[in-house]
Amino acid sequence: MRGHFITFEGPDGAGKTTIINEILKQIPAAKKKNILVTREPGGSKISETIRQIILDPANKEMDDRTEALLYAAQRGQHINETVRPALMAGKNVFSDRYIDSSLAYQGVGRNLGIEAVQLINDFATNNLVADLTLFFDLKPEIGLARIKKLRPDQEDRLEQEKLAFHQKVYEGYQELLSRDKKRIKVVDASQSIPDVVAQSVKIIKSKFPEIF
Ligand code: TYD
Repeated sequence: MRGHFITFEGPDGAGKTTIINEILKQIPAAKKKNILVTREPGGSKISETIRQIILDPANKEMDDRTEALLYAAQRGQHINETVRPALMAGKNVFSDRYIDSSLAYQGVGRNLGIEAVQLINDFATNNLVADLTLFFDLKPEIGLARIKKLRPDQEDRLEQEKLAFHQKVYEGYQELLSRDKKRIKVVDASQSIPDVVAQSVKIIKSKFPEIF
């Protein structure tokens, strides 16, 4: 049987990576072997190389369409090389970001349009849709403040964008939520880490109890 594809989304600084690691701790070792944890941009050799180009603060002149295409390109490689084969082999895949990030950041944040960005991503991934998406809901100003505190002077090119950009991204996510309430579930990411983990585990368990 094909595995389940679960994606984790949210504004910068929402704590996705920490929470994913904490969720994994709650999964028995024997079942954890059946989970592939991956991330975007990245998740395969070529995609990690593209990630460096996209996030390098030196690449100030990057065109918005180039940015969207590079995200789609790294995603195509990641999905077709790493994720789909794992799902086909029956593994469950947890991905730190997926297409919704492009729809919110490039589609809405960069004004390229949700539909146009969806189209290039459907092409890149050959139409792979997540089975469940957890959206870590956190106001962008709080997320950015967390990043500044945790790793000052180490912001990537996207994190360096002004608050207005991140506010648009947040609105983009709200639009995606309203369009697909069945797939995208909201987690209140302003709470403590144990609380956010508990909310996340509950949502995943209710849809795919066999993962735990
Ligand atoms: P991420 O790796 O989640 O950031 P970090 O490692 O700092 O937690 O994502 C890097 C940045 O890329 C983040 O600002 C969101 C952005 N991004 C997009 O704009 N579009 C996309 O399709 C993806 C996957 C990420």
